[in-house]
Amino acid sequence: MSVPARVRERAAQLRAALHEHAYRYYVLDAPAITDAEYDRLLRELRDLEAEYPELVTPDSPTQRVGAPPAAAFRPVRHRAPMLSLANAFDDAELEAWARRLRTVLGAEPVAFVCELKIDGAAVSLTYADGVLVRGATRGDGEQGEDVTANLRTIRSVPLRLRGAAPPLVEVRGEVYLPRSAFEAVNAEREARGEPRFANPRNAAAGSLRQLDPQVTAGRPLDIFVYGLGAAEGLAPASHWESLAWLRAAGFRTTPHARRCRALEEVKAFIRHWTAARATLDYDTDGVVVKVDAVAQQAELGTTAQAPRWAIAYKFPAAQAVTRLVDIAVSVGRTGALTPTAVLEPVRVSGVTVTSATLHNEDEVRRKDVRIGDWVLVQRAGDVIPEVVAPLPERRTGHERVFVMPDRCPICQTPVERPEGEAVTRCPNLACPAQIHLRLVHFASRDAMHIDGLGEKIIAQLLERGLVRDPADLYRLTAADLLTLDRMGEKLAQNLLDAIAGSRRTTLARLLYALGIRHVGAHVAARLAEQFPTVQALADASFEAIRDIPGIGPAIAASVHGFFRQEVNRRLVERLLAAGVVPEAPQGAAAPGPLAGAQLVFTGTLSRWTRKEAEALARAAGASTADGVTKKTTYVVAGTAPGSKLEKARRLGVRVLTEDEFARLAGA
Ligand code: IVH
Repeated sequence: MSVPARVRERAAQLRAALHEHAYRYYVLDAPAITDAEYDRLLRELRDLEAEYPELVTPDSPTQRVGAPPAAAFRPVRHRAPMLSLANAFDDAELEAWARRLRTVLGAEPVAFVCELKIDGAAVSLTYADGVLVRGATRGDGEQGEDVTANLRTIRSVPLRLRGAAPPLVEVRGEVYLPRSAFEAVNAEREARGEPRFANPRNAAAGSLRQLDPQVTAGRPLDIFVYGLGAAEGLAPASHWESLAWLRAAGFRTTPHARRCRALEEVKAFIRHWTAARATLDYDTDGVVVKVDAVAQQAELGTTAQAPRWAIAYKFPAAQAVTRLVDIAVSVGRTGALTPTAVLEPVRVSGVTVTSATLHNEDEVRRKDVRIGDWVLVQRAGDVIPEVVAPLPERRTGHERVFVMPDRCPICQTPVERPEGEAVTRCPNLACPAQIHLRLVHFASRDAMHIDGLGEKIIAQLLERGLVRDPADLYRLTAADLLTLDRMGEKLAQNLLDAIAGSRRTTLARLLYALGIRHVGAHVAARLAEQFPTVQALADASFEAIRDIPGIGPAIAASVHGFFRQEVNRRLVERLLAAGVVPEAPQGAAAPGPLAGAQLVFTGTLSRWTRKEAEALARAAGASTADGVTKKTTYVVAGTAPGSKLEKARRLGVRVLTEDEFARLAGA
């Protein structure tokens, strides 16, 4: 059956639009359409391809997931070897490297590029005539493994390059798992009876080497690219130019890169990130310093293992020894009992550590840590403190072995530990600790984002019997709130506004906010892509949920089980009845022109006060924030804008003039 020209054209249009929107969403972090609109386009393309299979191209956005599980990975030879890097551990070693450069380059000026060294798994992406044809792990540097199907599932990996494409190019980068996703991935592994990953790097490498791409698709991996391998038809004069080309071609490049003209600037960059890396959502283990000019790189050459023109300055390892004085047990949102090491305060890379999670009973036993032990602690990825191991040689015989309590420390309900699971749970859904944390989670930033509704206020609302579950929040009045400690009229009104504002939300946020086990923000987004409404998901069969790409049986069982419980169904009904509106219902009036966008204002506006402008933005469906982050969609700049404008430029956030804003807001 030949494909009618009209259909062929529409498919091409859809593919182009989907590429563009995925790029805006995953690479620029500046979506131009809502998730629901994106899904509609994707579904339309999928339907066309189902009807006319000859329309499917390898770079079609429908082809991210779908490859069948492989029996083994095929070996791939890299066209240009993937070298490693020489290390420097302090300034003296960095200076020694710079002196060695001088012996080759003489007195000519040298510019450097400094970049964060991302601690993940190295990969090489090969594009032929602009289309992704191969993705491989580093392997031994000469030969890696073909993990194309897995790399395709990473939404920020372009399936087709933007702009004019060279005949052939190898793009090198680091795949990583965001820190914020690490815990959820481990929780899911535990639920399946699989061992935890020790750190996000192992999680990234392990996820890339999954034989079933569906499993990889379920892990929110991301990538930063940092250079070129073999390249035909491309001749950048400097590394800085390569980075610019990569960005223009549609890649996420290492965001914190800086071109420096002197070694002092390099050192300042390193000093800054030694401390500031703690603020990032990914692990970095150092700074890579590269000679910028390609001609100078060629002059310097490489050794068998590493280029002479680059060096990795490693951040100091962060470990210390202290006493473990107790093991406390806390109860989490899902009832999980978590043992936590209470430590004698100790400084680890500049931060005082007083506690560290021990995860679960098995972990305590595996590490054989006892109460009273001297232990080695470190900050994993240099942020989250963890107990590495006890120092048994320092034991006195007075140490005590930890025993998991058999009752919930909060509500005294007998605890359960299901077969094959590592987690001990309090099964009482009405356990006060769980109710409290469920509400905190519901209001949190990535969930319903109710600004100002934090742990303390929620604790008071519960104590006073003003709320029992999330739906009650929408019935609160100013009079209710004014009974709380230190609550004034203004604060109460702000809180009521924030609660009211949270009614308008996305389905993904609502699903995440419900706090279903194993449903993190990423899984929630996947579910929302497949089901138009929360009711549709609630009525879906176990199989229908399990068959969604990236959702395994453990998640499916949890979601399905959640909606089989009467209390949960009632909660959803009450939320909807309270006016919580997930996405725009099909067929209803179009959402506001700024629906889903987050706006930040800077500088003085000529037509409105800041408050009026913010109200206009909200009326058009946008949210507003004070600071510029990756989540910001637009920055509206008036006269004399401040540092927010600069930050917007740095993050690639689109900047609007007052007039442009007025047009978008329909004002
Ligand atoms: S450049 C020829 N830049 O570090 C130079 N590598 O030992 C190739 N890495 O596993 C490396 N971030 O994947 C470079 N900004 C960055 C990097 C980076 C992480 C990894 C790389 C490799 C290791 C090098």
